Amino acid sequence: MQALDLLLNRASVAPRLHADPAPSDSELEQILSAACRAPDHGRLRPWRFIVIRGDARAKLGEVFADALKKRDPNAPQAALEKEMNRPLRSPLIVAIIATAQKDHPKIPEIEQIVSAGAAAHTMVLAAQAMGYGGMLLTGTNAYDETVKAALGISADEQVISYAYLGTPTAAMPEAPRPAPADLTREWTGPVS
Ligand SMILES: Cc1cc2nc3c(=O)[nH]c(=O)nc-3n(C[C@H](O)[C@H](O)[C@H](O)COP(=O)(O)O)c2cc1C
Repeated sequence: MQALDLLLNRASVAPRLHADPAPSDSELEQILSAACRAPDHGRLRPWRFIVIRGDARAKLGEVFADALKKRDPNAPQAALEKEMNRPLRSPLIVAIIATAQKDHPKIPEIEQIVSAGAAAHTMVLAAQAMGYGGMLLTGTNAYDETVKAALGISADEQVISYAYLGTPTAAMPEAPRPAPADLTREWTGPVS
């Protein structure tokens, strides 16, 4: 796919529309390599990735359900089952973790977080360039301490997103996109 076509037509594909196969090992390597090209002030590499696939997805679902039980001991069975099934919707999940330094002398934390977001976005774009569908999702499971601990994410790291990736079974309904002119103005001098 041409780069500009990809950018101008980019759209998320929700996990409910994902099927096997997942990107192969060599495709995943390329997807992660693309993410590692994210703009990164100071070359701090303020991100890392956790790959979850195969049987590990069911284990992650158990972690999500346990976390819900801890948050809400009265959570209904249906809600617990939803958590258990959540990671099974896509054949591959990559968690994008920001390892931002809060007190870096030169690079503010916000720039490091933005860099991690750029890595996440690039990852999904690269997968889409290969014909896969993908979507960045957070939800409670990105912020829950039980989930973070089970994934080996320290308290001072942040889950930027889970990239759910798979082979699309259908196209998403076209979403309205903003007109650039509505969000853009040209600056020609100080605003008085
Ligand atoms: C960091 C991040 C986290 C997101 N988390 C969620 C989420 O938890 N649930 C959700 O419905 N969309 C979430 N989104 C938005 C979707 O990934 C997607 O962008 C949105 O549904 C719009 O579709 P589009 O990408 O085709 O414009 C998130 C986006 C980003 C950048």
